[in-house]
Amino acid sequence: MPVSLRVKNRIPQNPRRILLLTSNLHKFAEAQTILKTFGVSIVRKPAKGIEIQSDSIEEVARVCAKNAYRRFRVPLLVEDSGLFVQSLRGFPGVYSSAIYDQVGCAGILRLLAQERQRSAKFVCALAYADKNGIRIFRGAVRGQIARRLVRGAGFGYDPVFIPSGYSKPFSALPKVKAKLSHRARAFASFGRFMEKKSKR
Ligand code: IMP
Repeated sequence: MPVSLRVKNRIPQNPRRILLLTSNLHKFAEAQTILKTFGVSIVRKPAKGIEIQSDSIEEVARVCAKNAYRRFRVPLLVEDSGLFVQSLRGFPGVYSSAIYDQVGCAGILRLLAQERQRSAKFVCALAYADKNGIRIFRGAVRGQIARRLVRGAGFGYDPVFIPSGYSKPFSALPKVKAKLSHRARAFASFGRFMEKKSKR
């Protein structure tokens, strides 16, 4: 590994530089953009650890963060997120990642082919672990599943998720996504928490 990369991946000791455990570079970039506005910097560690089987994304994030903190002993963040489609009773939900890998956005469109009720939400659960324990920050954004796929920016289900109040999916609205996505909201909530903490 080149020296520059080794330095970048070093575990941070500064409490305002926090580890974010994710292999997803898009998630990292979105989180970094939000946290910068709160003066919090993050370092990516490309492993979330073993995910437990649970029907709650909060629980998945909490357990991963707890296990990771036991291992690394530095303040760290783990996020778990998913797409919850109302007419599919919340599916793919906690299975979002696996379902995306198997059938992609096209699979979701096929499942909803005859469906008029297209409401959905993205939810993000962010677990922060430090010496005081674990705290969960949650963010959600409501919207609709598009009738067709629009490729563009972002990742995952962005090409088929139209946020409420807009007519295009996140893939065509990167600036909008940066402000009002489930992830932006969860990380902003964490950023406010860190701001308050630094003033205590
Ligand atoms: P996990 O949080 O790594 O378990 O993955 C959740 C899955 O939900 C991702 O692999 C994506 O398929 C999907 N997902 C989560 N957040 C987003 C997002 O912001 N845009 C599009 N898809 C997302």
